[in-house]
Amino acid sequence: MAIDKLRANISVSDEEFDSIFPEEVREFSNRHYTSVYISQRAAAFLAVKENVQILDIGSGTGKFCLVGAACTNAHFTGVEYRKYQNQIAQMCADRFALANVSFVYSNILDVDFEQFDAFYIFNPFLENIDRSAQMDQLIDSKNSDYEVFRQYVHDQLEKKNVGTRIVSYYTASGQIPDSYELKKSSFGSTLHFWEKAK
Ligand SMILES: C[S@@+](CC[C@H](N)C(=O)[O-])C[C@H]1O[C@@H](n2cnc3c(N)ncnc32)[C@H](O)[C@@H]1O
Repeated sequence: MAIDKLRANISVSDEEFDSIFPEEVREFSNRHYTSVYISQRAAAFLAVKENVQILDIGSGTGKFCLVGAACTNAHFTGVEYRKYQNQIAQMCADRFALANVSFVYSNILDVDFEQFDAFYIFNPFLENIDRSAQMDQLIDSKNSDYEVFRQYVHDQLEKKNVGTRIVSYYTASGQIPDSYELKKSSFGSTLHFWEKAK
């Protein structure tokens, strides 16, 4: 199975990994979930020291967290406000007995970033300003929400200690506070690796 292969450091295609998800959400993967390869690169940068607590801001069905938990010893928490996606993520974590991952059904506005050391952000609020990015009609997306979510995440990240790491993917750099230094970029400048410098 895909998770066992990742644990054993064997490469897994996205098609193979996505087969752990119910068919009705697999179609979202290409556009909305991070690929296995990029999840591995991001997780490796974030899991820089022992016992790191990593938060995925808008975790969907948990692809980034599940891959990260299978490939590193860090602990991953995914926060997601679509209940059915959160349930699928939890079901996968249980099925594969991944002890280093948790999924929380919540709006990010209700999450305090204090308990986390590192962050992954894959453009979670885009659907509020780009209707074509909506996966379903369950969320009442509004332009005004984009700014509220963006500002909340920005303020929470600003409060973190020097050395805090972030990986952002297809996410406007304006969402990352100026106190974070860009360490490197890859995949045609869609994937950015940050560390808090001041
Ligand atoms: C682009 S997907 C990324 C999924 C996952 N991080 C990955 O890389 O595989 C963004 C997710 O953020 C969720 N989301 C959007 N706004 C949110 C909010 N305010 N609080 C929690 N989750 C949110 C969406 O429902 C969607 O599932």
